[in-house]
Amino acid sequence: MHKMHKSFRTLVHNDHFLKLLNNQKSRFLRPELYSTSAHAGRAIISKAAVAWEAGKPLVIEKVEVAPPQASEVRVQIKYTSLCHTDVYFWEAKGQTPLFPRIFGHEAAGVVESVGECVKNLKPGDHVLPVFTGECGDCPHCKSEESNMCELLRINCDRGVMIGDGKARFSQNGTPINHFLGTSTFSEYTVIHEGCLAKIDPKAPLDKVCILSCGVSTGLGATLNVAKPKKGSSVAIFGLGAVGLAAAEGAGISGASRIIGVDLNPNRFEQAKNFGANEFVNPKDHNKPVQEVIAEMTDGGVDRSLECTGNINSMISAFECVHDGWGVAVLVGVPTKDAIFKTNPMKVLDERTLKGTFFGNYKPRSDLPSLVDMYMNKKLEVEKFITHRLPFSEINRAFDLMLKGESLRCIISMEE
Ligand SMILES: NC(=O)c1ccc[n+]([C@@H]2O[C@H](COP(=O)([O-])OP(=O)(O)OC[C@H]3O[C@@H](n4cnc5c(N)ncnc54)[C@H](O)[C@@H]3O)[C@@H](O)[C@H]2O)c1
Ligand SMILES: [Zn+2]
Ligand SMILES: [Zn+2]
Repeated sequence: MHKMHKSFRTLVHNDHFLKLLNNQKSRFLRPELYSTSAHAGRAIISKAAVAWEAGKPLVIEKVEVAPPQASEVRVQIKYTSLCHTDVYFWEAKGQTPLFPRIFGHEAAGVVESVGECVKNLKPGDHVLPVFTGECGDCPHCKSEESNMCELLRINCDRGVMIGDGKARFSQNGTPINHFLGTSTFSEYTVIHEGCLAKIDPKAPLDKVCILSCGVSTGLGATLNVAKPKKGSSVAIFGLGAVGLAAAEGAGISGASRIIGVDLNPNRFEQAKNFGANEFVNPKDHNKPVQEVIAEMTDGGVDRSLECTGNINSMISAFECVHDGWGVAVLVGVPTKDAIFKTNPMKVLDERTLKGTFFGNYKPRSDLPSLVDMYMNKKLEVEKFITHRLPFSEINRAFDLMLKGESLRCIISMEE
């Protein structure tokens, strides 16, 4: 598998090389292609929220953002929000610590300039960055069933660009690590073209930015992976933005019982607006929550979605589905060393365990249509937005998420 990955990359690089030459030729004939932004081809000084150490407040600093290289795009981020995955890797409790680092992956922006070989984007295009990409050429991108692109799939531990293994961010010559290939806590960032979805320029970036991770992930986890039937029962573990989007998906599918599970009782009232109609707080019971749910549902729910990242919650989410047909979908990101432990009889009894990144959506192919659904009023995103803050107060967004007070907090880069 590893070997295949390597040879695929080599192929991609050779291909890039040829395209690079062709591109240079055509630019020679069409000089207008050079006219991008005033900074095209040069480094930009950008304000960025740098995480110097695990768990320490981010510091807004001036950093240098190098120009985009082959297949890369430099994006001016207009709005970013905070997803729990940023918090986990910033805390680095049970995740690989990699510092200094610029976090952020849920965002919206405008293309500032493009590197060689970039085919599908040009300066001025409105884009949503996605933590997992779509090269369009690999077996996963060609498969209808997978969004796990061979080249650009999520890699939480990489802090550099895949093209040349270097960071595009630096300060006084010291490189600063990227995060998830997106690093959106910066006015300017460099992203591989395959991790950018081009969207309707009329879409309000301060709203659709949350489609670039949490909301699409939760929605897709239900609609594309769990696929509950009309009239069925669905349990959602974790009622943050991801879980609530999963609940919304259950409602769209016609599920009749949508059981929200959370340790934070303040979430329950809010979750009613997303279709959840029954609630369980594991703290209120002196037996495992899977038993509580099995009793409530005559043997188990038809589908469950795990959206907390807690390993015990993942096991409960699996064990609470009905034997014979139940399907559990893991969405929450576990710690690096987590081990999923269950009695294999639970599986033999015809329960299915699945997992998903980005709700199985292919970022470049599918995200523009989610934005269109929002524009056509078929999908609501405003109700996920509980807070707004200027970039200078980004650390408050971390506090709000850690205290369980926010769903999504939109951070405006220009304030
Ligand atoms: N698979 C993917 O593609 C993907 C994408 C985005 C986010 N995620 C992951 O999804 C998860 C949710 O993200 P979010 O931004 O909605 O987070 P969040 O912090 O807003 O919400 C998490 C919710 O889970 C609850 N919770 C925590 N531990 C619990 C437990 N043991 N039992 C019951 N409830 C518990 C919290 O009270 C909170 O309401 C995170 O693990 C995040 O990393 C995965
Ligand atoms: Zn996310
Ligand atoms: Zn691919």
